[in-house]
Amino acid sequence: MKKIGISVIFLSTLLSSAVSATEVNKEQLLQESHQAIQQFAKHLKGKLTAAMKKGGPVNAIQVCNEKAMDITSSESQKSSVILSRTSLKIRNPENAPEAWEKAVLKQFEERKNQGESLQKMEFSETVEVNGNKQFRYMKAMGVSQPCLHCHGEKVLPDVSAELSKLYPDDKARAYKKGDLRGAIVLIRELN
Ligand code: HEC
Repeated sequence: MKKIGISVIFLSTLLSSAVSATEVNKEQLLQESHQAIQQFAKHLKGKLTAAMKKGGPVNAIQVCNEKAMDITSSESQKSSVILSRTSLKIRNPENAPEAWEKAVLKQFEERKNQGESLQKMEFSETVEVNGNKQFRYMKAMGVSQPCLHCHGEKVLPDVSAELSKLYPDDKARAYKKGDLRGAIVLIRELN
């Protein structure tokens, strides 16, 4: 799993609000997860849009590839909240889903096929891993127009070449608008 950190200020609020692991109720955990993911999505979108404006999609590839890693190493170690992205068809092998994530992604596909909108599709559970309580949350990510530059059927030749160079085993292509692209995953240690 490739970890992605979020803003320090936000995290400190998130963590200090955890009076005690067992006292944090599900409603609160969900609310905090929504906030964390909203921040993360905003951060990512901002970086991506700025890079696209500056140098087109080829330039923006660098943002997805490198900046996400930078943020990871500097911040996620300080916290017990971990964010990552995953999918059933991955671009970066480091984003490969864990068994439980894979099961949830399949559940999302199923729910989508049954007509549920991706907009608010989510999953959460509290589990015990090696005696430690853990809250797991996933939010579905749909494919919108801007995603098609790098994940669609008609990727520009220069973009395609750069992607193939960086990700020789890229499976995150040929998506259509409205498809389930993957999910943002949040894991929070409760002990
Ligand atoms: C400028 C090109 C570009 C655009 C636009 C783009 N992506 Fe990506 N995407 C990438 C790259 C590069 C990676 C691999 C990042 C890494 O190395 O972790 C990636 C990875 C991902 C992943 C992680 C799973 C995997 O396949 O490795 C998800 C989920 C994802 N993108 C969703 C989206 C969505 C949703 C959109 C539209 C809102 C989008 N992307 C737009 C280039 C792009």
